[in-house]
This record gives sequence, C-alpha cells and structure tokens, in this order.
Amino acid sequence: MTYAIETQGLTRRFGRFTAVDSVSLTVPEGTVMGLLGPNGAGKTTLIRMLLGALAPTAGTGRVLGHDLRTGAEAIRQRVGYMSQRFSLYRDLTVAENLAFFGRVYGLRGDELARRQEELLAWAGLLDQRRTIAGDLGGGMRQRLAFACAILHRPSLLLLDEATSGVDPMSRRRFWDLIYGLADGGTTVLVTTHYMDEAAHCDRLAMMNAGRLVAVGTPRELQAAHGDGGGLEQVFVKLARVSAEA
Ligand SMILES: Nc1ncnc2c1ncn2[C@@H]1O[C@H](COP(=O)(O)OP(=O)(O)O)[C@@H](O)[C@H]1O
Ligand SMILES: [Mg+2]
Repeated sequence: MTYAIETQGLTRRFGRFTAVDSVSLTVPEGTVMGLLGPNGAGKTTLIRMLLGALAPTAGTGRVLGHDLRTGAEAIRQRVGYMSQRFSLYRDLTVAENLAFFGRVYGLRGDELARRQEELLAWAGLLDQRRTIAGDLGGGMRQRLAFACAILHRPSLLLLDEATSGVDPMSRRRFWDLIYGLADGGTTVLVTTHYMDEAAHCDRLAMMNAGRLVAVGTPRELQAAHGDGGGLEQVFVKLARVSAEA
C-alpha cells in the first residue's frame, strides 16, 4: 500500500510544552481521513508539520514520499491547505481571488483562464464571479477558499476545521466536493468537530493532549470505544481517558 502520509514518533514541543507527542500515523493514498480531538489536542500543530510549515522537534515523517525536514518545498507544490482562518483577499472579487492564487501556483494565460472557469463551476460560483469575496455568505466563501486551495491539483488536501461555522446545507455541499476529489484519487486529511462529518470519513484518527489515542474506521472505533453509543460517545470517552492518563 502507498501512503500519502507516514509519520514515526512525530513530536513538536513549544518550550517545555509538548503540543504533538510522538505521533505515528499512516494515511493510505486516496483515503478521507478524519482527524478528531478536543481543542488543544494538537491537530493544527500536526497539520502544520505535515505542510512543512513547522519543523518537528523529534521524529520523522514523509508526505507524498518527501521527507518533512528536507522536502518542504516539494511538499508545498503538491499539497492543498485550507484553514479555518482563511486567507482570501476580501477586497478582490471571486474571479480575482482565483486568478491571484493561480498565478502564485504558476498558472498563466489560457491555462489559468480555463482552470478558473472549471473551478467557478466546480464550486458553484459562476454567478458570483464579480462579487467581492468579503461580501459572500459563509458557505460560498468557504467554497471559494476550497477552490483556491485546489487550483494546483494537489495530491493531498489538508483541511483544518474548514467547515466550522457554516450552515448544514453548505457543509453538505462542501463534503460532496471532498468526496468528488477523493473519488478522483486525492488523499484528504480533515479535522472536524462535527460527528456527522466524522462518520463519513473512511478512517478516523483521534488525538488528545498531543497523543494519537485511536485510529480506525468509524465502525471500528464505535465497536471498540462506543459502549453501544455513537461516535459522540467515542469522542467523549477517548477525550476523558487520555486526559486522566
Ligand atoms: N506557537 C505556539 N507556541 C506555544 N504553544 C502553542 C503554539 N501553537 C500551539 N500551541 C499549543 O499547542 C497545543 C495544541 O494546539 P493546536 O495544535 O492548535 O490544537 P488543536 O488544533 O487540536 O486545537 C495548545 O495547547 C496550544 O496552545
Ligand atoms: Mg486547530
């Protein structure tokens, strides 16, 4: 099996505080992997290391076959990243945002124009192309941010609470886009606090206090830790157990 992400004992400390504590995780290519855990669990810190944006304190990792420590540049070319605090240019229109990010990724001329149209259609924003990004509603803004994150056709997508604060219909639509990409072979690592979203992932990795406390399919985690309840029950139980450990 080929892994899009492979880490061994990946650790990040800030001073004396260990934000990510010896995480060993594999994510098979083409999988939608949900990364769960309470606030402060270390999810964002782990993702920043996977992006090559933050150096590990200890441990090793490979993303799309590139070493995290030496291959950050190559990783960035092939990874799409979207965080909760987004980075759209609020004073630019929808089309201008796509064009801007496209140029950042080296797209030019006809190729850029084609990709822009493709993504406007993909994200359901054809009628909004001249709308100022700052005036878009939450769901549309999210889809524009998503479109900007995949302009360069990344093989791996890291989505960090990308659906926080959007209405259920928009989340639904967002997930349809995620599945579409996964069907096309893209690997997706997505953090979420919504258990309905977690239930739709191929596999889940649960973190707490910097540690990876469980990995498996939603069904496996439910069987092992659900006590007859749903994924909420798994989440609550694993959060408590590791907090006491
Ligand atoms: N740059 C930093 N300096 C110091 N502490 C940090 C820094 N970044 C994150 N942390 C701490 O690391 C812990 C994990 O944070 P984070 O990875 O953002 O968790 P999550 O995304 O799961 O909510 C938190 O306690 C946070 O305060
Ligand atoms: Mg976070």
